[in-house]
Formats: sequence, C-alpha cells, structure tokens
Amino acid sequence: MRRPLIVANWKMNKTIDEALLYIGAFIAEILEEISVKGSVPARTWPEVVIAPPAPALAAVSAALTGTGILSGAQNIHWERKGAFTGEISGEMVKAAGGTYVILGHSERRTGWGESDEIVAKKTRAALDQGLLPIVCVGETLDEREAGTTQEKVSRQVRGGLALVSPEEAERLVIAYEPVWAIGTGREAQPKDAEEVSLLIRAVVDEIVGRGSGSKVRVLYGGSVTPENVGGFMARPSIDGTLVGGKSLDPAAFSSIIRETLRKKPLLKTED
Ligand code: 13P
Repeated sequence: MRRPLIVANWKMNKTIDEALLYIGAFIAEILEEISVKGSVPARTWPEVVIAPPAPALAAVSAALTGTGILSGAQNIHWERKGAFTGEISGEMVKAAGGTYVILGHSERRTGWGESDEIVAKKTRAALDQGLLPIVCVGETLDEREAGTTQEKVSRQVRGGLALVSPEEAERLVIAYEPVWAIGTGREAQPKDAEEVSLLIRAVVDEIVGRGSGSKVRVLYGGSVTPENVGGFMARPSIDGTLVGGKSLDPAAFSSIIRETLRKKPLLKTED
C-alpha cells in the first residue's frame, strides 16, 4: 500500500514573510479537503510536503503544525556538524521541523557537482538523522535522444541507494525528473514516465531485494501543472509528483492536490 505524495520544491524562492503568506492562503484553500475526516486514518490521505529554502523552514514548519501537511529541506550535508561553511545538516532540518529532504536534484548535480557517491552519502545521512530522503534521478535531453535513459536512471538509482538497507528502502522516495522537463513547460509523456518508474522499481528490487521495488514511492517531476497532473496520476506505478514552478502559487498547488485526489482517491486501509 503506497500513500500518494505531493511535494512542493520551492527552490530559491520566498522570504520568511512570503512563505508565511503562502501557507496562510494554502491552508485556507486546501486543508478542508486533505485533512483527516472522522475516523479515517491519516495515512489513507495523500501526503503533502512543502520544501521551502532553509531560512524559511522553521517558520513554515511551525505554521503547518496541526495541519497534517509536512515540511522538508532541499538539500543537506552528509556530516552532522563541523567546519562546512554554508552547509546544513539533517539534524538541523529535523530540529527545524522538517520530515523530508530532497537529495540529488538535477540542479545540484549539474550546478554543484553532486555525484552519485555524494547522493549516496547524503541519503545515508538523512536516514541516520531521522529524515526521509527523496532521491532525484533523471536523464538529460541528449541522453534521451541517444536512447540511454534507462542506463542513466539505473546508474543513478544504484549509486544513490548504495548505502541503504532493505528495511530502509521501503521508506525511500525516488523522484523521476527528466532534466529536459524541469522548468521548460515540456513535461514527459505519462506513459514514458511510467516506463521509467517501472525501471526504477526493478532496479530497487535488484539492488535492495525483498520486494522493495513495489514498496518505494516513485514520483514524477518536471513541468507538472494542474492540467497535466491527472495524466501522471492515472498511472498506477507513479505515486505522486515533485512540483517546482506551479508549487509557488497556493491556488495552482492546491489544484494539483485536488487533481491527485481525483485520480488516486481514498486508499483502503488494512485495519
Ligand atoms: P518545475 O515543476 O518548475 O518544472 O520543476 C520541477 C522540479 O525541479 C521539482 O524538483
């Protein structure tokens, strides 16, 4: 049973004041629809996470208290503390109220040279420091056109999960974000995203074992909008979305959540 997950990656946008204005509007817009109703267990509803820039994380987490909406960071260092100017640790994110951390985003891989080895260390650190990692993978346009998408994504999944145990793998989230679809307005075809998500599950099964591939949650990210999200959510192996641009507007992000609910309605509970 995989709970749908919708993650807002704000990237380097919003000051604390702007973030709090957003949270107020967002709660007014969507809370009624996603909050726990009566005796329905919370885990039957989609999980919603907001990942603001680090300076706004504590304020956003506090503003979300009691709503069931979670927060997260966009990056961490793999060490707990020390002389690493400009970095933040998983422990710090956790103390600021964060639950999740986005790791290995393509903007970090290309702009800050994050290799699969670094992503693996950060994934390990996130788990050790009580955060749930969202590991991002995805091919460039050249790689897609050269027909090497599967090879690239397999390598990134293998590399990023190199230090994770079978038990831990089940708590992981992997986000498939084709680099050419990020911020371009050119989203992947849902059937292509589904194909890659199935590949991701197969690789997780192979490297971690124990049927983990069907337990990890796989998201799609890249130019997700209220209009196109339904196509992705109709695909059974895609559990949710990682949203950039359209997550910056509370009305648009709420519409994405609503569309997700429409396509992935209440899960049946086991108890
Ligand atoms: P866009 O939704 O702006 O394409 O960004 C996707 C992304 O990078 C989310 O992590």
